[in-house]
Amino acid sequence: MNSSAIKTSNLTKQFGDVTAVNDLNLEIPQGEIFAFLGPNGAGKTTATKLLTGLLRPTRGSAVICGYDIQKEPLKAKQLLGLVSDQPFLYQYLSGYEYMNFVGDLYQVPADEQKEKIPQLLEMFELKDWSEDLIDSYSHGMKQKLIMAGILLHKPQVIFLDEPLVGLDPKSARLVKDIFLKLSERKVTIFMCTHVLEIAEKVAHRVGIIQKGRLIALESVSELKNRVHSGNNLEDVFLELTGGTEYASLLKFL
Ligand SMILES: Nc1ncnc2c1ncn2[C@@H]1O[C@H](COP(=O)(O)OP(=O)(O)O)[C@@H](O)[C@H]1O
Ligand SMILES: [Mg+2]
Repeated sequence: MNSSAIKTSNLTKQFGDVTAVNDLNLEIPQGEIFAFLGPNGAGKTTATKLLTGLLRPTRGSAVICGYDIQKEPLKAKQLLGLVSDQPFLYQYLSGYEYMNFVGDLYQVPADEQKEKIPQLLEMFELKDWSEDLIDSYSHGMKQKLIMAGILLHKPQVIFLDEPLVGLDPKSARLVKDIFLKLSERKVTIFMCTHVLEIAEKVAHRVGIIQKGRLIALESVSELKNRVHSGNNLEDVFLELTGGTEYASLLKFL
């Protein structure tokens, strides 16, 4: 029995001359909250798509709970949930209909759907809009609906690409609390985020990717120890990724 939730070996994706993900080797145990950080264009979204089977790697492999995402895609996908950076939803379903659709897709029994869907919609404060078409939802509401759908089918591994963009502070707190609760139940969370504060508060480990390469992989406190000048994750992140190189250009303003 393999206890890793996510394991990649030399996972690589090239788009023409650009190597978006370059020999990524990651092993994430069950129940870990893992924050994947990196500047724009670093390769986070591409890595997430490789891990969830939305893109085929140029070389290397990704294994989810023991199932290779390319070789056994259905088994692997049954165990994962994805909140992508661009929420795709059927615009002409209502929120409630979408939840039923997800429940049916993942074979959640009808009585369980009937009990849980209203609870989940209430938790995300979507109940009052559950009969409205998704077309009328805001970005944040769409993201919350996708998360509610994921919680209905109880995946082992949840991937989230910039999940907190568009969420109000209360919803962002709810999502953080959900992560902690799920982690207690050995659900693994793989979250790409620009919101360093959230990574710092909830993540067990942080991976930093730059130009497709993993340049750091450790706990938040280890990262801080390693980069002495930094006393918060933002300083450490900027130091590692050379994020303040623009300083000399400010004079042109
Ligand atoms: N479909 C694509 N075709 C060509 N290049 C792509 C494609 N998707 C991503 N890239 C390139 O791969 C690199 C990584 O992008 P991405 O994974 O979206 O980064 P991030 O999510 O960290 O901002 C960028 O240079 C981007 O331009
Ligand atoms: Mg991205």
